[in-house]
Amino acid sequence: MSAISNTWELKKLGGSLGAEIRGLRLCDVSDAELAHIKELLLEYMVLFFPDQTPTPDEHVRFGGRFGPLEGHPHLGGNAELPPEIFELRASAGGIADEWHTDLTCQDNPAVMSILHMVTCPENGGDTMWSNLAAAYDELSEPMRAICEELSALHDAQAHGQPEKMAIHPVVRLHPETGRKTLYVNEHFTRRIVEMTATESEVLLPMLTRWVTNPRFTVRYHWTPGTIAMWDNRATQHFVLNDFVGERLIQRVTVMGDEVRPTKPLPWRSWPEQAGHFTASTRHDWQLQNHLRAKGLLPD
Ligand SMILES: [Fe+2]
Repeated sequence: MSAISNTWELKKLGGSLGAEIRGLRLCDVSDAELAHIKELLLEYMVLFFPDQTPTPDEHVRFGGRFGPLEGHPHLGGNAELPPEIFELRASAGGIADEWHTDLTCQDNPAVMSILHMVTCPENGGDTMWSNLAAAYDELSEPMRAICEELSALHDAQAHGQPEKMAIHPVVRLHPETGRKTLYVNEHFTRRIVEMTATESEVLLPMLTRWVTNPRFTVRYHWTPGTIAMWDNRATQHFVLNDFVGERLIQRVTVMGDEVRPTKPLPWRSWPEQAGHFTASTRHDWQLQNHLRAKGLLPD
């Protein structure tokens, strides 16, 4: 533990990322304290604040201090809650047990998420996060060079909406830290845009597995009332589906920014390179359709 103010105590949780902070009431912090929390978030990527138990309105007000919040339609959810709160109940299938960065199927994925663990089992249901900057930094030089020149197609197939798609660079430049982060995940990322389907099938699983190397991760055991916040531009997370009983979270997300590559991407998409239809073109339909819809490929 180290003292970061008269009352705050910060405990670093992993070698790669994560810190737990006690001794403050998060929803009452001053502007100067909030600025300090933002710095800590950039440094540790995921922060945990036990014993907070905010009301839904406090949760929304606190989240709004970081930027405009996304609204969530109440699709069978809790209509009592403010529209900015997304509630997920494990008994309703709400367990995110695949590694992901939140909603990379969107053009502008959330920059950060702030989660309130309302109810959780005494054992199990931990969440893991991984550090995407470390994952990038520890690739070999040739692999870093290749990845920096590629982009990938992400979709919401896992949520029954494969038509929701976005293309992002494989390596993202973090707008605040200037670090390079490996921005592909097993849940949303389908295909490397500039490579053949066969090449993509080799490279993409290698990268998404690499991100989950335990060396880049931290694992957190929850207690009810804890608030966690994470930098969605620099991390992925994964919920362990190893529990019985009630697990209820409420989350707000700060609206997204533009996902920038580290340099201009030099290669054409694979459908542009291929230029003609063959038997193997069927592997490229999804990518072709998206590129056409975006006006990036002639009909
Ligand atoms: Fe998530």
